[in-house]
Amino acid sequence: MFPKTVYIHTIGCQMNVYDSDRIAGGLAPMGYHRVSTPEQADLVILNTCAIREKAEQKVFSFLGRMAGLKRQNPDLIIGVGGCVAQQEGRSILDRAPYLDIVFGTHAVNRLPLLVRQVETSGGRLVDVAFSDTIQESASCQSLPAAGQISSFVTIMQGCDNYCTYCVVPYVRGREMSRTPERIIAEIQELVAAGILEVTLLGQNVNSYGKKEGLCDFAELLKKVNAVDGLSRIRFTTSHPKDISDKLIACFSCLDKLCRHIHLPVQSGSSRVLQRMNRKYTREIYLEKIAALRAVCPDIAITSDIIVGFPGETDQDFEETLSLVREVAFDGLFVFMYSDRPNAPAAKFPDKAPEAEKAERLQQVLGLQDTITLQKHQALVGTTQMVLVEGHSERSSAADISPDKIPDMQWHGRTSTHKIVHFPDVKGVSDGSFMGRLVAVQIERAFSHSLWGKPVFREEGRCSIR
Ligand code: 5AD
Ligand code: SF4
Repeated sequence: MFPKTVYIHTIGCQMNVYDSDRIAGGLAPMGYHRVSTPEQADLVILNTCAIREKAEQKVFSFLGRMAGLKRQNPDLIIGVGGCVAQQEGRSILDRAPYLDIVFGTHAVNRLPLLVRQVETSGGRLVDVAFSDTIQESASCQSLPAAGQISSFVTIMQGCDNYCTYCVVPYVRGREMSRTPERIIAEIQELVAAGILEVTLLGQNVNSYGKKEGLCDFAELLKKVNAVDGLSRIRFTTSHPKDISDKLIACFSCLDKLCRHIHLPVQSGSSRVLQRMNRKYTREIYLEKIAALRAVCPDIAITSDIIVGFPGETDQDFEETLSLVREVAFDGLFVFMYSDRPNAPAAKFPDKAPEAEKAERLQQVLGLQDTITLQKHQALVGTTQMVLVEGHSERSSAADISPDKIPDMQWHGRTSTHKIVHFPDVKGVSDGSFMGRLVAVQIERAFSHSLWGKPVFREEGRCSIR
């Protein structure tokens, strides 16, 4: 078997980053190892996302760049996978004559076969079939890279919720959950390879296992919490309608579960929420937030908001701003509404002008920046447990006077998912804080991160969280 090279370009969400790892894992037994530029590659895979705006445009502009490479190297194999591939199917082949493979969201584990077929007999292949069983493959998960301490683990795929703005149910198919046994086995393998933190992934993890009659999500979390050697558990994304009291209670009783939840609200107006088919009201959302804070007072809550949904009035938008103020999120992703192929809202009347959407976006972001900074400032003087993810040489990012910038600084995240930078301490770090849980006293707050100094307590081990 000759060593071969694959370059994987990922557009989009965490789900796609994870799929790209699975793609790499599946191709490895064929001799493919990953390289960091398409110029070095025998095989180029573009893994696409349709949830974000201008997805298609990004795909064709990347493919346009690959056309030149294919002219220089006619043996180069080019494949497109992910949501856009699922959505567009064969028509991508028509628009990009130098493209060899189109594979959909359910064809990731069949990609090695498709590549083999092109290698041996050529041809242009399309595989966008949906399967009704979840994709499992012994060799699909690639091992973590050296020094990697955090990893995603998909627990389910697809979505049955049909929010009216969203393309996911059409490109990722119906909701399907992996069995707890498979999930736990994967996490144990990851931990054995050095992983300390896992993020459980699904479009709506709160409905995990329901359809299949497996255990529910809270029970799955308990099983993951019992995995030896694992330090931290995170999960994303949660749908507010499905968040149960049992799950909320996990934030007080599971020692490895991080004190952070991403709970997309999308709008502060019940009228808009109904038109989005979200199946909860503003009041229900606020009740869930209160219940979470009752069991875990310092839980960090982040969210997604769409501004300029068709028919959103000034009053509706004011309600979104007032919800943002009332909840005081720790962070927000704000999106301007845009039509997605197949999503029902594309046909809704009263589309907002781009300028109005942009203005609303800026207003929400401005409000959230003030709240985030206040929340960060409130942490000054506290001590936070930071799981160290990496380091950088002298950096000006910490906004500290140049003479005080240390030669080397470490960074990691608190249980509440906040980024903390701190300087190296010679003689204490033993050359590396990597992967260690370090108590850091917070000294300065910035809009996107915190800065502090490591403190070392005599009383022995600090709590994991
Ligand atoms: N327009 C704008 N934002 C969208 N999102 C999903 N679909 C659209 C759309 N059509 C946002 C939602 C979701 C996040 C991942 O992307 O806020 O939670
Ligand atoms: Fe899309 Fe709604 Fe499913 Fe989230 S829950 S993936 S927004 S349809």
